Amino acid sequence: MHDILPEDQPYYERVYEVVDQVAKFYGFSRITTPVLELSELFEKGTGSSTDIVEKQMYSFKSKGGDSLALRPEFTPGIVRSYIQHGMINLPQPVKLFSVGPLFRYEHPQAGRYRQFHQFDLEAIGDSSPAIDAELIQIFYSILSDLGFRHLICEVNSIGDSKCRPYYKKLLSSFFRSRQHALCADCRRRMKVNPLRVLDCKEEKCQRVRSQAPQFVDHLCDECKKHFRSVLEFLDEADIPYHLDPHLVRGLDYYTKTVFEIYSDQHSPDALRQSAIVGGGRYDALVKLLGGKEAPASGGAGGVERIVSAMKESGRSPLKAREPKVYLAQLGDLPKRKSLKLLEEFRGAGILVAESLGRDSLKVQLARADKVGVEYTLILGQKEALEGSIVIRKMDTGKQEMVKMDNVVREMKKRVKR
Ligand code: HAM
Repeated sequence: MHDILPEDQPYYERVYEVVDQVAKFYGFSRITTPVLELSELFEKGTGSSTDIVEKQMYSFKSKGGDSLALRPEFTPGIVRSYIQHGMINLPQPVKLFSVGPLFRYEHPQAGRYRQFHQFDLEAIGDSSPAIDAELIQIFYSILSDLGFRHLICEVNSIGDSKCRPYYKKLLSSFFRSRQHALCADCRRRMKVNPLRVLDCKEEKCQRVRSQAPQFVDHLCDECKKHFRSVLEFLDEADIPYHLDPHLVRGLDYYTKTVFEIYSDQHSPDALRQSAIVGGGRYDALVKLLGGKEAPASGGAGGVERIVSAMKESGRSPLKAREPKVYLAQLGDLPKRKSLKLLEEFRGAGILVAESLGRDSLKVQLARADKVGVEYTLILGQKEALEGSIVIRKMDTGKQEMVKMDNVVREMKKRVKR
C-alpha cells in the first residue's frame, strides 16, 4: 500500500476529471458503494475459485461476527446496490460509474499494489453487443484524452451457460493429457475450473495454453452472433483490436465478450505486459446475487498503471492553478483581518498564497518571490487600523495604498483568473 504524495496528485486529478467528463457524456451516473462488504458477496460474485477470492482478499470477522471483506473490485458491490435499490424498475440499461480504492493481497511489484484505484463503468440491464462495443470505445476515449496512443484491445468471447460446459469438458481432457507440463496450482485449478488454467501467468502453463482448444470454435449460435456483432461495431468505430482466443480473465462472472486494453508505448517495461483496462459482459451475475435476470456489461481501468505510464512518457497533467497574489501581514490585528480577506478572495475566484504563521515582512516577501506572484498585498498594523492595504507590484516594486473594502475589486481588475 502506498502514499500518493502531493506531487502525484495532479495526475490522479487529471485521470478522474477525464473519466468524469467521458462517463457522463455517455450517460453514466456516479455511484459510491462501501469499501467493506460481506465476504460472501465476492465469494459468490467474483468467484470462490478465483485468485482474487482464494488468495488476495482481505477478509476478517467483525466484532458482531459478520464475515467482511475489503472490496477487491467494484462490480459485485455495484450489482448488490442495483438489486437492493430496485434499479431494475428504472429505464434499462442503468449506467453507473465509480472511482475509488480497492484492496488485493498481491505480491507488490511495478503496477501491482495492495491498495490501488480503479475507475469502473457498468451498464446493467441490456444484452446488446452495441453496449460491449460502447464500453470499449469509452475506455479508448478516456485513454486517448489522457494522451495514450498505440492502444490495443484484446477481445474474446467465452460463451454462456449453453456452450461453456462442453468447452470446459474439452479443455479438461486437453489439460489432463498434459498435466505434467503444468504448474502445481494449475494441476489443482484444472479440476475446479479449467478456464483458470488459461489465465495462469507461469511460462510453462502459457506454453501449454497456446495449443489449447479455442473458445471461438465452440460457441453456440447465439454467442457467435453476439461476438461477430461486437467485432463489427469495433470495426465501424475504427478501434484497433486483436482477437486473443485464450483470453478468459480471472473473474468468474463473465459471459460472452471479454476484453483487455494494453498500451505498447511509453509504458515502463514491467507494465507493458499488464492490462490497463479489463472488462466484459456478465449476463448471469445479477440473478446469481439474488436479483431478477438482467444482462450486463462493464469494465475497469487501473489508475496507478495509467499514472505510471503518463509519468514515464513525460505527459504532464493539467497544470495546477497558481496563485497570482500573495497576502503578507504584520501583527495580530492584520492576521485576524487576513482570514476574512482570504475568504473574500476565494469567493471572487482569485487564488491567494499566504504564510499566516510568519511575522517578518522580509521572509514573507521572499516567499512571495518564490511562489512567483505578480502582486503582494501588505497589511500592517497601521493599515489594519485605518481600513487600508498596500498593493505591491512585484516586478517593479511599485506600491500603492487602497481601501481594504475595495481591494478584491481592485485585484479583480489586475489579475487574470
Ligand atoms: P480486473 O482486470 O481485475 O477487473 O481489474 C481491472 C484493472 O485494474 C486492471 O486492468 C488493472 O489496470 C487494475 N488492477 C488490478 N489489480 C491491480 C493491482 N493490484 N494494482 C494496480 N492495478 C490493478 C476488474 O476488477 C473487474 N471488476 C472489471 C469489470 C467491471 N468487469 C466488468 N465490470
